[in-house]
Amino acid sequence: MLMFISFEGLDGCGKTTQVELLEAFLETRDFEVVATREPGGTELGETLRQIVLHGGKISPWAEVAIFAAARAELVEEVIEPALGRGAIVISDRFVDSSLVYQGVARGLGIENVLQLNLHATKGLLPERTFLLMVDEKLSEARVGEERDRMERESVEFRRLVGDGYRRLAEMFPGRIVALDGTQSRELIARQVRQALEEAGLL
Ligand code: TYD
Repeated sequence: MLMFISFEGLDGCGKTTQVELLEAFLETRDFEVVATREPGGTELGETLRQIVLHGGKISPWAEVAIFAAARAELVEEVIEPALGRGAIVISDRFVDSSLVYQGVARGLGIENVLQLNLHATKGLLPERTFLLMVDEKLSEARVGEERDRMERESVEFRRLVGDGYRRLAEMFPGRIVALDGTQSRELIARQVRQALEEAGLL
């Protein structure tokens, strides 16, 4: 069975911790797990990450295209081969990040960004996406002093991203599982495992 899971949410929502906890849990069950992050996860992807997060000004369509390029490379080089040999892939962010950060917050349109990305990923979407909901003020407070280009955006930008995620959860109710990101990490991890079990994926 194909098994591709992603985690999404505002910066500082705790998704990276949840990727690690789920990876460790699945390994105790003897699954091969491939955890990856976006943008990045390949040589080209890490170079693009450097440009898009630590470079200078970038226009919105160039930005969405760079994220899509990193994603295309990740699908081709890492995700497809891993799924092909039966591994479980857990991605820290995937298409949904582009739909909300570029589609909603930058105003490019969810549908336009989805079309671009479905070409880039050859139609691949996660079976389940865990969305860790925190409000923009908590996100702002949790992001440290050293900020990348996206993290330097305003609280208003974060609010748009948060609204975008809520819209996506309504658009894809079967795939996106929204969880309260203010709960303890252990409780969230349990809810993630429960959702996967209930879906018959574990
Ligand atoms: P992330 O890896 O979560 O940041 P960090 O490693 O600092 O925790 O994400 C990097 C930033 O890029 C984050 O602010 C969200 C943004 N982003 C987009 O705007 N569009 C995308 O398609 C992706 C994948 C990320």
